[in-house]
Amino acid sequence: HTADIEVLNVIGSTNQYLKDISIDISNGHTCLAEAQTAGRGRHGRKWVSPYASSLYLSMHWSFVGGYSALGGLSLAVGVAIVDALHSCGVQGIQLKWPNDIYAQGKKLAGVLIEAEGQIGSSCQTIIGVGLNVALPTNVEEIGQPWIDLAQLTEPLINRNLLAGTLISELNKTLILFENSGLEPFISKWRALDVYANQAVKLVIGKQLITGVSRGIDITGAILLETGSGVKAFHGGEISVRPI
Ligand code: ATP
Ligand code: BTN
Repeated sequence: HTADIEVLNVIGSTNQYLKDISIDISNGHTCLAEAQTAGRGRHGRKWVSPYASSLYLSMHWSFVGGYSALGGLSLAVGVAIVDALHSCGVQGIQLKWPNDIYAQGKKLAGVLIEAEGQIGSSCQTIIGVGLNVALPTNVEEIGQPWIDLAQLTEPLINRNLLAGTLISELNKTLILFENSGLEPFISKWRALDVYANQAVKLVIGKQLITGVSRGIDITGAILLETGSGVKAFHGGEISVRPI
């Protein structure tokens, strides 16, 4: 198999689509859709996915070494998205731990990585990216401040050019991450950190921990300075919020 790119019209979720066909596909196999009827974010939240106004993209990758090799992957993917936007002339992008892309303090894009189990010693993953290009004026309610590229660039950047740039950036990033882990991405991520040195709260289930955000460690954990020193917090159940 060579890595294919499938362009679909309206489907439920590009992540789900790749999940359903994943036994037959090779690293880098990508699908894009014009709209999603069941686009999803973390924790089963909804990703609002109107027609022909965004990028909804998922890429398959199989990582040798299992789940332990995946720490920090969403951070590396965030850096890849920023690099793709930069090469298309979009500046002023920031990253919010662990999976959000921000501009002007509002959410521009999100990353949803789903691991779907082991085949032999390798872990099958789907890397999903939703990126707002030009949402319709009558878009349904989104539960937090959002932004699209139409509000950031004039003239609007070409969606196909951006898709191609993002796919090649993701390919490069996943090869580098597979070989070298998060280390090559750390300094870039830190420079893009939307909450660097700001007071934040971590929401971990029903627990709230407040402190000052001090970036990430080498494993991709978020570092929070509290009264008792700087501590690393790992894992997918954490949300970071401003105070
Ligand atoms: P965290 O990842 O820190 O828990 P989050 O609130 O951003 O925070 P996610 O699950 O990552 O949560 O993302 C889903 C959320 O993104 C939705 O609940 C909604 O608030 C927001 N959202 C949905 N669709 C869009 C969109 N097209 N553009 C921007 N934001 C969106
Ligand atoms: C988030 O912010 O929680 C992540 C949002 C990820 C949305 C993308 S759109 C393409 C892919 N398919 C999905 O159903 N979700 C991801």
